[in-house]
Amino acid sequence: MSTTFTLDTSTSRAHPLPEPVRRLTVPAIQKRKGGEPIVMLTAYTARMAQLLDKHCDLLLVGDSLGQVIYGLDTTVKVTLEMMIAHGAAVVRGSYRSVVVIDLPFGSYEASPEQAFATAARVMKETGAAAVKLEGGEAMAPTVGFLAARGIPVMAHVGLTPQAVNSLGGYGARGRSEAEAAKILADARAVAAAGAFALVVEGVVESLGRAITEAVSCPTIGIGASVACDGQVLVVDDMLGMFERVPRFVARFDNLAERIDAAAARYADEVRTRRFPTEKQLYS
Ligand code: KIV
Repeated sequence: MSTTFTLDTSTSRAHPLPEPVRRLTVPAIQKRKGGEPIVMLTAYTARMAQLLDKHCDLLLVGDSLGQVIYGLDTTVKVTLEMMIAHGAAVVRGSYRSVVVIDLPFGSYEASPEQAFATAARVMKETGAAAVKLEGGEAMAPTVGFLAARGIPVMAHVGLTPQAVNSLGGYGARGRSEAEAAKILADARAVAAAGAFALVVEGVVESLGRAITEAVSCPTIGIGASVACDGQVLVVDDMLGMFERVPRFVARFDNLAERIDAAAARYADEVRTRRFPTEKQLYS
């Protein structure tokens, strides 16, 4: 008889966490509608999660890891295995924030049952508390199906990067009245179906504001509106790791320049035999 073992990657930590481990909960996030703004950043590694955890309410293991970590051109190519590996790392590195994991393209759209199987696997193998999926009215039955079965779902409307091939690019959405009305209907549908929170990405400001007023769950904006109940950014964007960033990104540091300078100094010291010094050597 053969037995299959699944490694519980969420609990075997390299570094112990402060005790007691007190995570925020999904209901606590829901209660923040219209209250203290919700802080969310993406994280993909245990160490980055450790650094961000105390500042954030939510850590999103976004499928943006396709571009940020793996150098892919779109999120369409991201796999479930990538999401689970990075999701488990972020859970291991954090103890306060609610960790939300993106369901990758192709892993949930076919049916509510497919979405449930994928989301259940993600939660079992990572220890995360919630999943995120993209889509509006068409995904509302799936959001309801998961929510009714104990899976908290963060929905994502507006600019939905997994649909880049249908949308034709990453431009702001909701510029025409018809498109704005459709996105508002999408937001209403997933919120009514039971999404605990809603990412609103890349929409004209008035629409971000209107969605926030229209739905009863917290909205988390990215290129949406300061009126949203919270904000999210891709961490590498806000740290200044990339030369080109979308309009909605503010750089809070310029790590790319600082890494470049550090690597240049290291290379120079190796080439001129100034590194290592006595301090780094064993006597
Ligand atoms: O994948 C991601 O990082 C996201 C955020 C931009 C919201 O979906």
